[in-house]
Parts: sequence; C-alpha cells; structure tokens
Amino acid sequence: MRHPDEIEDKINYKATFKLVFSLMKPHKLKFIAAFAYLIISTSINLANPIIIKYILDTAIPTKNKYALLLAILFYFINTVLFLTVNYLLAMKLIIAGQKIITELKNKMVKHLLNLDMSYYSENPVGRLTARVESDTQALYELFTETAVTIFKDIFMLGAIFTIMAFFNLKLTMILLPVFPVVFLFVWRFGKKTSPMFVKVRKINAEISAFVTEHLNGISVVQAFGQEKFISKKSDEINAKKFNMEIKAERLAVLFFTTILLLQPFSIAGVFGFGGIWFIKKEITIGILVMFILYLDKLFEPIFRFSEHISIIQKSFSAGHRIFEILKVKQGILDIERPRYISGVKKSIEFKNVWMRYDDDSRLCSSAPAFGGTMRIERPNWVLKNVSFELIKGKSLAIVGETGGGKTTITNLLFRFYTPQKGKILIDDMDINDISMESVRSALGLVQQDMYLFPGAIMDNLKLMDKSVPDSKVYDAIDKIKLKDFFKKHSLNKKVVEKGANLSIGEKQVIALTRAMVLDQEILVLDEATSHMDPYTEKIVTNAIKNLSKHKTLIIIAHRLSTIKNADNILLLSDGEIKEAGNHENLIKAKGLYSKFYESQFGEN
Ligand SMILES: Nc1ncnc2c1ncn2[C@@H]1O[C@H](COP(=O)(O)OP(=O)(O)OP(=O)(O)O)[C@@H](O)[C@H]1O
Ligand SMILES: [Mg+2]
Repeated sequence: MRHPDEIEDKINYKATFKLVFSLMKPHKLKFIAAFAYLIISTSINLANPIIIKYILDTAIPTKNKYALLLAILFYFINTVLFLTVNYLLAMKLIIAGQKIITELKNKMVKHLLNLDMSYYSENPVGRLTARVESDTQALYELFTETAVTIFKDIFMLGAIFTIMAFFNLKLTMILLPVFPVVFLFVWRFGKKTSPMFVKVRKINAEISAFVTEHLNGISVVQAFGQEKFISKKSDEINAKKFNMEIKAERLAVLFFTTILLLQPFSIAGVFGFGGIWFIKKEITIGILVMFILYLDKLFEPIFRFSEHISIIQKSFSAGHRIFEILKVKQGILDIERPRYISGVKKSIEFKNVWMRYDDDSRLCSSAPAFGGTMRIERPNWVLKNVSFELIKGKSLAIVGETGGGKTTITNLLFRFYTPQKGKILIDDMDINDISMESVRSALGLVQQDMYLFPGAIMDNLKLMDKSVPDSKVYDAIDKIKLKDFFKKHSLNKKVVEKGANLSIGEKQVIALTRAMVLDQEILVLDEATSHMDPYTEKIVTNAIKNLSKHKTLIIIAHRLSTIKNADNILLLSDGEIKEAGNHENLIKAKGLYSKFYESQFGEN
C-alpha cells in the first residue's frame, strides 16, 4: 500500500477524467439544462453589438426616431434577459456542483470507514482529512466554473468569428494570427504548471496533517517545551508552500499579462486597417464599432482560458489524489458466501496462530536486550504458535510484558488483520468464513486507548446512537454497580474529543459501562497501561468483576488485581504462550507468572 506522499507528481488524467465523468453522469439533466441556458445567454449577449451597428448604420443616418427608440428598447430588454438567463445558469451549476461534492464526500467517508487498520497505521489521519475537505472543494470549482463555461467560451469564440466573418471577412482575417499564438501559450502554460499544482496540493495536505498531528499531541509538545521548535518547523513548511504558490501563481500572472498584450495589438490592427477601409468607404462606421465591441468580447474567453487551465490543473490534481484513495482496496474482505452468526454459542478458539505485521518475510534484528547482548536475527513474528480456547460463560485473562502481542490477539479476533498461519474459530467455524460484520457485532471491545466522542457521557455510553433508550444505560450502570461513580460524574457532563477532560481511570469506567450497554455477550477488555489510584482501581476492578457475571470476558490486564478471578490465565511473552492456568495453579508453579505477581505485589 502506498503512502499518499509517495503518489507521483504526474496526474493520471485518464483515471481522473473517468472519476469526474462518473460523478457528473447522474446529474446529466442538470448539465444539459445548463448547456441550454448557456447557448441562450451567449447568443443574447452576442446580439448587442449588432443592435449598436443597426443604430449607427441605419437608425441614425435615416433619422428614424422610432427605429432608434425601438433599437434602444430592444438593447435594454436583451440585456435584462441576458442577466436573467445567466442567473439561472449559475444556480443550475451551483446546485449540481454542491450535489456532486456532497455525494463525493459521502462516498469518500464511506470508503475510508471500510479501509483496513493497516491503511490507517500507514496514513496520517490529518492528511486524509485534507483529502476529504480541500480536495473535494477544489473539484467543486471545476463543476461550477469550468466544466460548462469552457464550452461556453469555445462556443463564444466560434460564434463571434462567424458573425464577424459574416459582416466583413477581410477585417476578420486580420485577427486570425492571434489564435495560434494564444493556443501555443495555453499549451506551454499547462505543461509547465501541471506538476506545480500537484506539489501545492501535496504541501497543503502536509500542512493540515502537521497541524492536526501536533495539536493532537499538544500535551507532549508543551510538556517538553517543543513549541518554539514546532513553530519553526511550521514556518519552514509554510515558507515552502509560499514559495511553491508564488512560483505557480507567477507563471499564471505572466501568462495572463502576455495574453493581455495581444488585445492592444488586435485593436490597433482593427482600427488601423478598418480606419483606412472606412476612409476609402469600403466599410461603415457601424461595422468598425461592432468589431471593436466584439473584440472586447473575444478576449473575455481568451482571458478566461488561463483561469480554466489553472482550475483544471488544481481540480485534476485534487481529483487524482481522491482517485488514489478511492482505488485503495479493502485488504480484508468477506468470502463470496460468508456465514452469518448471531452471537457466540459455544466457544472461541485460537489454533496454532502465527502473525506478523510486516507481511514480506523480512528479517529484523531486535534491539540489544537490557544485558547489552545482541539477539540473533529472526523473522518478525509478533505471535508464535498461539493456541487457546475460551468457552462461553468463562473468562480468559492474558498477561505479559509490553509489546508481547496481547493487543495483536484482539486485532486478529476482530479481523482487523489476518494471521499468516493457523486458524481462529468461533463455534468451530473459521472466522475468515464468517461475515466480518457479524463477527464484530458478536464481540464487544473496550480498547486500550479508548476513544470517547465529543458529546455528553450519556451519548458516549450509547455510542452516539440516539435510538438507544436511557433505561438501557441505567440498567447497565445498575448491573455493574457503578451508581456511585455516575452520581459523581453526571451523565450530562460534556466530554471533549478523545475524552481529554477525563482521567484515564474515568475513561476506562465509561468504556466498561459502554460495553455493558451494548448487546454483545463476549467482551474483550484491553486494559489501559497507566497506573490508577487505589480508589479508581477498585472501582474498575469491581466493575470488571460485575461485568464478568453477565458476559464472557477476555481480559488483557497489566494489573494483576483485575485477573485473579479469571477462569484461565495465559502468560504471553515475546509472542508465545509461556504459561497457562488459573491464578492459584500458576502461583504454585512458581514460574514467570508468579515472578510477575511478586514484582507487582511484593508478596511471596
Ligand atoms: N499496526 C502495527 N504495525 C506494525 N507493528 C505493530 C502494529 N501493532 C503492533 N505492532 C508490533 O507488534 C508487537 C506486539 O504489539 P501488541 O500491541 O500486540 O503488544 P501488547 O502486548 O498489546 O503490548 P502492551 O502491553 O504495551 O499493550 C509490538 O512489537 C508492536 O511494536
Ligand atoms: Mg496492547
């Protein structure tokens, strides 16, 4: 899987165009209507110089007051009509654009929600947020500004030339050399700026990721006095962005200015040749004025081309990056006809499971152990031949050193990752054959770094699902005997993002209650590593004890006080199960577990 930073600077126009086209397709009626308005509005707009010509060449010379009045009236009505149609056109495009962008955002969010955990361990969320927000916005400009207007401009160029050629071919020919020059410029400009805009978008995402990441870790930043250092780094990337933007924009302005120079040349040409031909009475004053007026309109689309190009560049580089995300395939998928389960009936079993996160049989040398000796190189197995069985209704505890592979066991059980060897069975069925959704809805998870959403504690207990009745929450609190706790911490208390205004112990209690509120019978509790004060520890321990009366539990614990009562305890070290049994037996065996226990409680 590729990191978004490694996406090449070359835009894949074909794929992006396909994406853009597929987004527009469901709204084709709106775009067709916009086209119709556009043809009408442009035609109306182009009629005005002809009216002026009529006034100058016919109404005034023949001294026909009525014709003059009528022409002026027509001119006025025409302009009002033009503005009205233009309004309708703009609204059609804005509505279509907003609809498309909303759909695209939904599509991206849906897609992102289904991507594997391994994708997220490689891609910073800040960058993905930038994709969803700013890149879709860049595409919006394409749908409202360019996708249709570019045709209007081509139509306008064609129509103006046809009208001019109809009234005077000779004078029109004078303007012809302008066009090869314009198109040469447009082409060169596009070629040069295309990679620049990709770079600008990339650095934009980098900046938003930088800000998100450092604000997320604000306590570390402040505690270690990193503010100056981080703000210097931020200055650096902002300066990089500044330089890149200036470089791209300078080219755009230069292009615009060069094109601007063509206008006086053309006007000089028309006045020069046209003036002589007027003196020679070969053309009328009306024709001359009409040409000058059309010349103004002729340069409108030409100027706009630079705008179009920069919008096309920007939006295609945004679209390209969106496409790169949308094409990422879910790595873990259900089999074609998966089995569905409605909860665990009998047991969960791990059978000789081997797992490593880096799937490419690389060899890794581990860091020197504390003694300073270097261990031999070995394949990076995180779990080695792990087997155990949990019968429904019983509780299983897993203990062991940090990094030993405990959380990895839960990652496999929830199918966040797939093991390389061995099998995981639920009621004797391979979990790879069971639909992912039904596996996950059969199991509950209280994660180590539990995430609380912004909202009231009550909302969090319902996992933000408003349809869960309050009574269910009160029931759960009752069952695991946490009434006192929630008297102290009102259910209406607002939790900020990630539960930053709560202590780890409090968050853990909330997460446990949340697990009780939800319906799963099998719960996996991955205990937080931080130490708690004896009082909170007692609350948590009791809550787990009460929870185990109602649910089948897999408890991953750092504090042995929580697991003493478990029916079976596994000691996991370096990815292997070194000891298994209940607390008493393990203590009697005087192995690693008893040492572990002694070190925590200083008991013999
Ligand atoms: N997403 C990941 N990608 C690559 N390696 C990982 C990933 N998650 C964990 N690991 C590695 O796998 C090993 C086991 O990690 P795991 O999280 O299972 O340990 P743990 O026993 O839960 O530790 P702790 O007690 O600290 O929670 C560690 O060496 C860790 O660095
Ligand atoms: Mg862990």
